[in-house]
Amino acid sequence: MPGDKSIAHRYAIFAALAHGVSKISDYAPGADCQSTLACLRALGVDVKSVGADAFTVVGRGFGRLCSPSAALDAGNSGTTMRLLAGVLAGHPFSTTLHGDASLSRRPMRRVVEPLQTMGARIEAVDGHPPLTIHGGRLHGISHRPATPSAQVKSAVLLAGLHAEGTTTVAEPAATRDHTERAIQAFGGTAAVDNLTIAVAGGQRLEGRELSVPGDVSSAAFWLVGAAALPGSRVEIDGVGLNPTRTALLDVLRRFGARVDVHLTESDAGEPRGRIIVEHDRSGELEIGPDEVPGLIDELPAIAALAAHGGRVVVRGAAELRVKESDRIATLVAGFRALGIDADERPDGFAVSGSPGAARGGGVADARGDHRMAMAFAIAALAADRPCRIEGADAVAISYPDFFETLERLRTEGDARSRA
Ligand code: S3P
Repeated sequence: MPGDKSIAHRYAIFAALAHGVSKISDYAPGADCQSTLACLRALGVDVKSVGADAFTVVGRGFGRLCSPSAALDAGNSGTTMRLLAGVLAGHPFSTTLHGDASLSRRPMRRVVEPLQTMGARIEAVDGHPPLTIHGGRLHGISHRPATPSAQVKSAVLLAGLHAEGTTTVAEPAATRDHTERAIQAFGGTAAVDNLTIAVAGGQRLEGRELSVPGDVSSAAFWLVGAAALPGSRVEIDGVGLNPTRTALLDVLRRFGARVDVHLTESDAGEPRGRIIVEHDRSGELEIGPDEVPGLIDELPAIAALAAHGGRVVVRGAAELRVKESDRIATLVAGFRALGIDADERPDGFAVSGSPGAARGGGVADARGDHRMAMAFAIAALAADRPCRIEGADAVAISYPDFFETLERLRTEGDARSRA
């Protein structure tokens, strides 16, 4: 798998804020994580490529980034914009962060408000990008985000590391904890007490060597394909197994798949290992609001499960409407175009399928959203005629080799079933 997108962003940012040189291997190859590296370079950080997906980063220390000569481009990446907003809030200069058309539609008040409470001044356009951040001296706060969000939590904690006193974030529900783990991996302290995380300002981080585990949210598409397609089995090595990211595995079991997990190692506090998924039967699944934060990036893949048989109903997932696209509307329109039975709800969707249900021949528009393009590809495997995915090149955001790998899995599978 390509390196994990969430973890790669954080390793690059913490390496830039540490002292000394870090080496990051298996860095995520997608465009989002390249946007983070480009922004860090523009902030005066020495980032050098030292082989395929490997970089050295010379840390500058907290508060020591340089004022950039132009606006920073976060591209399509919400994580780049929100996490860097937290970092830049603690720097005594003004920076503008902008992004592409999709990122420019995404809500930023959720980071702007707490960072302003900490002491930064931030201009936004009706709560949306571009953001102009006038950073400076910050003080610690206690923040309770209204919506569970690892990006908001991380932005506030990154600002907290630049602030005087202690900053706490009390999450409404658990979200991915890569920031907390990365702080410890770079030699800092983040105190975690159930859903509350506290960091003290004035810490010092040290550069180190790390490698990024395979991206389990990208693996999700193969795992779903294997669970959904009769006769399929997929084995994936070196994939991240952080428990805040693996709720999908239980969902696949509930649906009726056979799932085996082998934890093989852990680097920088991030466990990794092997996942094997095999089709058994197609069941009915209901996913409610409590499960949504742990599955937020996997819901498009989970929808594709039911394209091949069975039924998936998702509730309490209105947050999907403010991702790279309105993922509820994009998904339902795309599945219907492929001939799959899908219903839109204000906070979710319902998808029902049966083998061969997708008539094929349709055109599903990914609306520039990488996870939509991949979900449509897995759903289209149910069709008996070719399907067309408009905007499929969006996979480059998180998984540039997605279609090559799909072709390899498909032809290897065909060769095995002929043998
Ligand atoms: C991410 C957090 C999630 C997720 C996104 C990556 C992160 O976003 O959807 O793809 O790396 O922190 P939210 O924090 O907006 O839920």
